[in-house]
Amino acid sequence: MLEFLPECHSTNEELLLRIRLETLNEGYVLHTGHQIAGKGQRGNAWLSEPGKNLLFSIYLTPKVLLPKQAYLLNIISGLAVVDALAPRVSDKVELKWPNDVYVGDKKISGILVETMIEGGVIADAVVGIGVNVNQSHFPLATATSILMESGVTCELEELLEQIIQQLEKYYLKLKSGDTRGLLGAYYKLMRWRGEIHSFRDKEGTFDGEIIGIDDTGRLTVKTNNIVRRFDVKEIAFLY
Ligand code: BTN
Repeated sequence: MLEFLPECHSTNEELLLRIRLETLNEGYVLHTGHQIAGKGQRGNAWLSEPGKNLLFSIYLTPKVLLPKQAYLLNIISGLAVVDALAPRVSDKVELKWPNDVYVGDKKISGILVETMIEGGVIADAVVGIGVNVNQSHFPLATATSILMESGVTCELEELLEQIIQQLEKYYLKLKSGDTRGLLGAYYKLMRWRGEIHSFRDKEGTFDGEIIGIDDTGRLTVKTNNIVRRFDVKEIAFLY
């Protein structure tokens, strides 16, 4: 089921509210033209010019996943977005850990997964996806869109359908237990894989080589021949 709202606060918030009040079927998609209070990661706002970009959330009930496996929902969403975008922009579409979608040095899409735990598993999940599509100017120089990358405007609903189709494919893989395959696919698309970058953790700054993510979604960095693993709150990229 797909619903379009010309405007709402946030498609994630709207679905989170609805699952408290009514029974939604898994796969329910809420798509909007404009969010008054779009949410990004780490409490940031997600801003978008009305009518120009793709803003939607999808409801999932991944009861096979433990809370610590929530990162896999980010992974499958990132893979789905890359698959749908790559033919439209370029094969330079990559995933910046944990789940930003980049074209070269610029962010084209963001993902916000919110989960509800019940009986020790993820009972409900709302996967919110924002893709910059037909917007041609951004307040941030680090943002881009399909139009800016390709010079071509894109039909929002067609792109939405393609992302959902890809997401279904990866969700089935996830439910079949193919975590290894998903992590492998993620690593192939991972921005800066194999490169040395600077980071900050709670002890200070350091340089290290990005060697992948582990099976709990942590970033794996080799520094002074020691392999260290970080979850998203424990490390920041300096460049
Ligand atoms: C990020 O900070 O990169 C995540 C951005 C997620 C934005 C999408 S837009 C649709 C859905 N509704 C929201 O309020 N946020 C997500």
